[in-house]
Amino acid sequence: MQVLLAHGPNLSQLGSRDPAVYGHATLADLEAEVAAVAGEVDAFQSEYEGALLERLHAARGDGTEAVILNPGALTHYSYALRDAVELLDVPVVEVHLSQVHAREPFRHHSVISGVVAVTITGAGAYGYHLAALAARRLVEDA
Ligand code: DQA
Repeated sequence: MQVLLAHGPNLSQLGSRDPAVYGHATLADLEAEVAAVAGEVDAFQSEYEGALLERLHAARGDGTEAVILNPGALTHYSYALRDAVELLDVPVVEVHLSQVHAREPFRHHSVISGVVAVTITGAGAYGYHLAALAARRLVEDA
């Protein structure tokens, strides 16, 4: 299965970013979690909303079979990202390391969840394992 693992702003800092909230796993560790289940993983991270949109646009027709996406704070306000996700014709799994519903009120709402197949939140790095399992099942069932 060819999976695009896409991360938004500040997730490049995982490993040293507030470990009490986000844990100690680095982006490379999360990529390995997904690769263990999915096989082929194309990993992308950007601090820039537009770059993330362009990568998602490129996933239309490049052989990507599923997308696992942690948009970071864009989750909570980016309608442009939501529109780009909605354009995809492959399953998308939204994943958050932290339990966003137990945090500040602005994190309780995701503008992305309405256009994805599955949302996983609060399971830390294991959430990426679960996301890959969900993506695999969605691809198999398609
Ligand atoms: C996050 C949660 C977001 O609220 C936050 O802005 C992030 C990371 C998570 O993985 O828990 O950058 O998506």
